[in-house]
Amino acid sequence: MTEAPVAQGVGPVRQKPPLRPMLLSIYNFQMAPLARAASSRGMTAVLPGEPLIAFQDVHIGFEEREVLRGISFEVWRAESKILLGESGSGKTLIMKMAAGLLRPDSGRIWVMGQEIEKMPESDLLDFRRHVGFVFQEGALFDSLTVSENVAFRLNEENTDEREIEARVREVLRFVEMEQAIDKFPGELSGGMRRRVAIARALVDRPPLVFYDSPTAGLDPVTSQTIITLILQGRDLQQVTSMLATHRIQDAFGLARFRFDRKTNRVTPAAPDGHPPATAPTNVLVLREGQIYFQGAALELLGTSDDYLKAFLESAE
Ligand SMILES: Nc1ncnc2c1ncn2[C@@H]1O[C@H](COP(=O)(O)OP(=O)(O)OP(=O)(O)O)[C@@H](O)[C@H]1O
Ligand SMILES: [Mg+2]
Repeated sequence: MTEAPVAQGVGPVRQKPPLRPMLLSIYNFQMAPLARAASSRGMTAVLPGEPLIAFQDVHIGFEEREVLRGISFEVWRAESKILLGESGSGKTLIMKMAAGLLRPDSGRIWVMGQEIEKMPESDLLDFRRHVGFVFQEGALFDSLTVSENVAFRLNEENTDEREIEARVREVLRFVEMEQAIDKFPGELSGGMRRRVAIARALVDRPPLVFYDSPTAGLDPVTSQTIITLILQGRDLQQVTSMLATHRIQDAFGLARFRFDRKTNRVTPAAPDGHPPATAPTNVLVLREGQIYFQGAALELLGTSDDYLKAFLESAE
């Protein structure tokens, strides 16, 4: 198989800086309760100047076919990394490997200062408590109410009951679903179920959240409200995220807008249309098992590469 060329206009792919045992907490932001919980569980964390996620030459395949053939990239704190690529290109696989839900066949993966592909399963269980995952298929438990779904992880961790209730209400208020607290998933619309899935991913206040196709199947207005939730997480709570999508508007929504704490509204990221340096939105486009493009979301718009131009048209 020939190597996919890297598209014109893309900056050089940086070499991953060496990672060392981590000492300093990344949790020194607003999610103070999680900071305490995380450090009490003995989580290591990344130093300033080191990425939150680093993939190095990661391969994974099934039976005859190698799906990902040498994936290397980094995600920095408060960055939104958008995964684009045709169906089956491996977006979900990348996020599941980064979340410690799946192991690569080869290559190395560091997340929050830990080399996770080497971790024993018992440590992975602990690691997964520090990441939120909104699954592509939603994956709510149909027989549990909204509040039970959202509380699921906290219950597993034996969190104090009063704290569970307070956290569930808080996060459901955040996704504007408090009124549905006692409903079952089957009683909700697709957009509402997606909000509940987001609430469930955020309830433990993770510093890192994976959104797998969070707007798939939703109308444009509902999709925009989901993106606004993601903007709020990023800009108010400095959540770092990876987001897989087929909607190119999701990437540009995150790149062009920010959530303003003072006005409590979505506003243009900056007068010149560029995002603030603290919250960059970058894109990875997967093609034939490799990264075909990586760069700023807005850089992708101006591409002169034929494959990317055709891809952007088909994704709109
Ligand atoms: N458990 C598995 N067993 C066999 N093949 C798998 C498994 N998981 C994923 N694959 C294959 O790996 C490829 C990549 O899958 P993945 O779900 O990551 O694609 P994707 O980019 O997320 O696609 P979509 O846009 O449709 O969500 C697909 O061809 C899929 O069939
Ligand atoms: Mg997928």
